[in-house]
Amino acid sequence: MQTDFLVIGSGIAGLTYALKVAEYYPDKKITIITKTREDETNTKYAQGGVAVVNDLENDSFEKHIEDTLIAGDGLCNQHVVEIVVKEGPERVNEIIEWGANFDKNPDGEYSLGREGGHSEFRVIHHKDVTGKEIERALLAAIHRKSNIELVTHCFVVDLITQHHLGYLVTKSTPDIECYGVYVLNLQNKKIEKILSSVTLLATGGNGQVYRSTTNPSIATGDGVAMVYRAKGRIENMEFIQFHPTALYQAGVNNSFLITEAVRGDGGILRNIHGEEFMHKYDARLSLAPRDIVARAIDSEMKITGTEYVYLDCRHMDPDKFIHHFPNIYEKCMSIGIDIRKDMIPIAPSAHYSCGGIKTDEWGHTSINNLYACGECASTGLHGANRLASNSLLEAMVFAHRCYQDAVQRINSIKAPDNVPDWDAAGTTAPREMILITQSLKELKQIMSDYVGIVRTNERLERAIRRLDMLHEETEVLYQKTEVSPQLCELRNLITVGYLIVKAAAFRKESRGLHYNTDYPYKSELVQNIVL
Ligand code: FAD
Ligand code: SIN
Repeated sequence: MQTDFLVIGSGIAGLTYALKVAEYYPDKKITIITKTREDETNTKYAQGGVAVVNDLENDSFEKHIEDTLIAGDGLCNQHVVEIVVKEGPERVNEIIEWGANFDKNPDGEYSLGREGGHSEFRVIHHKDVTGKEIERALLAAIHRKSNIELVTHCFVVDLITQHHLGYLVTKSTPDIECYGVYVLNLQNKKIEKILSSVTLLATGGNGQVYRSTTNPSIATGDGVAMVYRAKGRIENMEFIQFHPTALYQAGVNNSFLITEAVRGDGGILRNIHGEEFMHKYDARLSLAPRDIVARAIDSEMKITGTEYVYLDCRHMDPDKFIHHFPNIYEKCMSIGIDIRKDMIPIAPSAHYSCGGIKTDEWGHTSINNLYACGECASTGLHGANRLASNSLLEAMVFAHRCYQDAVQRINSIKAPDNVPDWDAAGTTAPREMILITQSLKELKQIMSDYVGIVRTNERLERAIRRLDMLHEETEVLYQKTEVSPQLCELRNLITVGYLIVKAAAFRKESRGLHYNTDYPYKSELVQNIVL
């Protein structure tokens, strides 16, 4: 199959880009590929909202920039921060024009929430289901475009580069080019090739590399792993954000989020004995940036020997709570927690990958004709710790920038016509799924126990040794087994785990989300780790 613009991923990043390209070039073909249902994305689960400067009387670009830089702990690219904050309002207006609804106050102004690290109320939202509303509106707009084809249940296995034409491609090859992708069509179980002039990776995050995560099952870091295999550049993978307040339910690994906006509206963190504890850690109390709150909770759980602490909402106005957070209220009620009388048990959970595929300010990766945006990209916005609700904004801003650049370049790009079909010779049907499921369990355990919120040199060294073994075994399995999404995801997650551990081991300091007790202080050397 041949297309003009290939988009991998149907979250906010991929859909926004596709819509813009389709409007610009009504006569060109845009193909969106997504590995499960069209709306099964991290985007759909976003709760708190979109951080954007809206109320110029009380807020300003300068304040949003400053908050982002402080959260990023000295590692943000200031130019990129300015781009995102200043271009953000225009992008948000576009998404509203496409049909997304955000809550308004009785006076007709947008109702603004506040989250950790924000000095002002600036988060626009749709109840506590902002992502669901955005995904709904974008998909509806996509289905109105006749030149967009959205292909579901199609798993992208690898990028096609010169490597597939028989050339040796290494990290130092100067002009690696992307010609499209090989995909596993889950309807007919065949591997097909899709050739494209321009490819955009919008494959989202990688929370599934940890045992407990707020991310849905699709978040397996496929885009990052594919780019790494294709010898492209990956940046700052050690900065994994753990959301402080995921609902704690024994034995549940894909955790339900309790949005930070609940703390913004007055929710208070308490330890197992009911004692408020944030005052011991930060003057901003429960609304300190996420890295600080997550570490404080981790420390309290270790002191009291428990697997959770509490979020206390009992003092909050119940009607207001139910109005703003109906989904959370219902979820809690469904498991017997009445937020009016009971405190909510919560624990930190892997939530967001601040690093990823290294891109410049136009979304170019280090591979020609390959763009990346959204959570899979490392643009420089988040530095060492993302400010809450900045990622939906970043995805919109960079989807626009990728589009602006790609539409100018497309006519000078031509994919070669000698790309071979996928070679499945020597592979047989998988005999034992246990080889995959057990390795996945081991990987999550290694990452959670040794590469979590607090790290040490010894834990990282141990993690590398264990991952080496898993990598070796999985590569052998991959060479001899027919490709399946489970096997590909395991392979990708092992690569992502390896990149996180390697980058963490390279960083000889504690900064933002990376905290190593062997180097408890921030170094004067400000560096991005590129692998
Ligand atoms: P996604 O929305 O995750 O989409 C990824 C797409 O790529 C999916 O369609 C997937 O199927 C596809 N894909 C991946 N790999 C392959 C493959 N191999 N083949 C084919 N398709 C593939 N951010 C905020 O700014 N505000 C919030 O309030 C907020 N709340 C959040 C709450 C939760 C519970 C979570 C999990 C995240 C939250 N975030 C929030 C973060 C934000 O939602 C994500 O960073 C953002 O939605 C990512 O969008 P994306 O388009 O990059 O990726
Ligand atoms: C939340 O609603 O707390 C999540 C916001 C985010 O991850 O940006």
